[in-house]
Amino acid sequence: ATPSEPYDVVVIGGGPGGYVAAIKAGQMGLRTACIEKRGSLGGTCLNVGCIPSKAMLNNSHLYHQTQHDLKRRGIDVSGVSLNLEQMLKAKTDSVTGLTKGVEFLFKQNKVDYIKGTASFASPTQISVSLNDGGETQVETKNVIIATGSEVAPFPGGAIQIDEEQIVSSTGALELKKVPEKMVVIGGGIIGLELGSVWSRLGAEVTVIEFLGAIGGAGIDEEISKQFQRTLAKQGLKFKLNTKVLSADKQDGKVQVKTEAASGGKEESFEADVVLVAVGRRPYVDGLNIEAAGVEMDNKGRIIIDDQFNTSAKNIKCIGDVTFGPMLAHKAEEEGIAAVEYIKSGHGHVNYAAIPSVVYTHPEVAWVGKNEQELKAAGVQYNVGKFNFSANSRAKTNLDTEGFVKFLTEKETDRILGVHIMGPNAGEMISEGVLAMEYGASAEDVARTTHAHPTLSEAFKEAAMAAYSKPIHQ
Ligand code: FAD
Ligand code: NAI
Repeated sequence: ATPSEPYDVVVIGGGPGGYVAAIKAGQMGLRTACIEKRGSLGGTCLNVGCIPSKAMLNNSHLYHQTQHDLKRRGIDVSGVSLNLEQMLKAKTDSVTGLTKGVEFLFKQNKVDYIKGTASFASPTQISVSLNDGGETQVETKNVIIATGSEVAPFPGGAIQIDEEQIVSSTGALELKKVPEKMVVIGGGIIGLELGSVWSRLGAEVTVIEFLGAIGGAGIDEEISKQFQRTLAKQGLKFKLNTKVLSADKQDGKVQVKTEAASGGKEESFEADVVLVAVGRRPYVDGLNIEAAGVEMDNKGRIIIDDQFNTSAKNIKCIGDVTFGPMLAHKAEEEGIAAVEYIKSGHGHVNYAAIPSVVYTHPEVAWVGKNEQELKAAGVQYNVGKFNFSANSRAKTNLDTEGFVKFLTEKETDRILGVHIMGPNAGEMISEGVLAMEYGASAEDVARTTHAHPTLSEAFKEAAMAAYSKPIHQ
């Protein structure tokens, strides 16, 4: 193809939504380009999100376990110390390996990778301000907008992020030394994951949360309560029902002022580092979407229909910049479906079966409805629970914190939700997702052989508990 010939698809943004869409389009024989301005592929997730945070979670867990958990297992170690520089390097290496991997996949699937910032000139014409200088024009028949999200600033500008003392998740993945005291504003997923990292490495961490529960949107209340108790045992402190008013730098420290969420009682906290984790917001800066006729709602999300069409013809949109949970796997599914709509007119994402995982230790994972949602909707349901303390493998592994909880429709036994707190919950939840995807009942899962001795037997026994009785509890 010649440069003057229009592309079939141009994807704007090379995050999990955009890069997956571009690869899928290449695989389906569409002439495809992906425009990314960051200088590396993989978006928020690979560069400053999922991947570096999981590297730090995994390695800080190993460090913490080596210090506090090996002795009882008959492993005596001495002279354990933290080499933070090396831990950060291991994180950076895993990021680089994966982002380069995506670049390789682009070549393999004949996707043109254009390094620069995209801006609409018209619905079918995009000007790209190239990272290496200069500008180029790209013509295309279809566009997929996948520009993702950015850190939501603290409301009213009361807190300024400097990424050194007052950090967002990005700065919290780069701290050069372990702070003595860290205040985390927001007890959602980022606050709990990164709060855990620095707590394990030695910081005294206080999480301040506006709501009465931790874990962010969608978490089951019962799980949230037990999760909080478990994290508190690990040393994290929590101030719930508390609103942060301001955070100001003073004499090398940060003073955080709060008041009770219901108003009244004021308090202040001193910290060496403050992590602001109060959510993320859609990102469209510099995209000039007005020129394309793409509309947004009052939360800054690009409006789409159920086939990812924006208000502009032949422009689709996926991932964090539009509706739905801000999760990498959700963006990826949408990327594939959007391309399938372009190529064949058919695509599918099941929004009722998108898992959420908090990668602490133990992990917390869920899919489908939680108990409070079922109650609010007046649904008659059964609960089946099984504790990891009754599971042989968890006991052998000396890792028994948590439980599996099934929620099923009373009349039909159909699975409506699965909630897990426990070792490997993030892997185990896939079985719940698959079961829901295929409309399984708890009995279907309970009658499926699960290998012994595995943690997944706790999953099976929770299903047994939902429709009949478990054996080991
Ligand atoms: P993004 O990944 O944000 O990618 C958008 C890309 O578009 C960016 O690279 C940006 O540079 C580029 N771009 C924007 N505008 C332009 C333009 N005009 N021209 C060219 N390029 C442009 N999700 C999970 O599922 N699991 C996790 O464990 C997880 N952990 C996370 C941890 C942290 C600390 C954070 C911050 C997020 C985490 N997330 C996690 C969320 C996940 O990162 C996002 O849901 C996901 O990256 C969204 O993908 P996306 O493709 O929609 O957007
Ligand atoms: P979040 O929306 O999950 O949590 C923000 C929390 O901050 C909420 O609980 C909110 O009540 C609280 N809050 C807001 N204002 C406050 C104030 N003034 N004082 C005290 N508390 C306040 O957002 P978070 O944690 O920033 O994460 C952003 C997104 O990134 C999430 O939506 C999530 O989807 C994604 N993510 C996913 C991960 C995963 O899948 N493991 C990991 C990290 C992020």
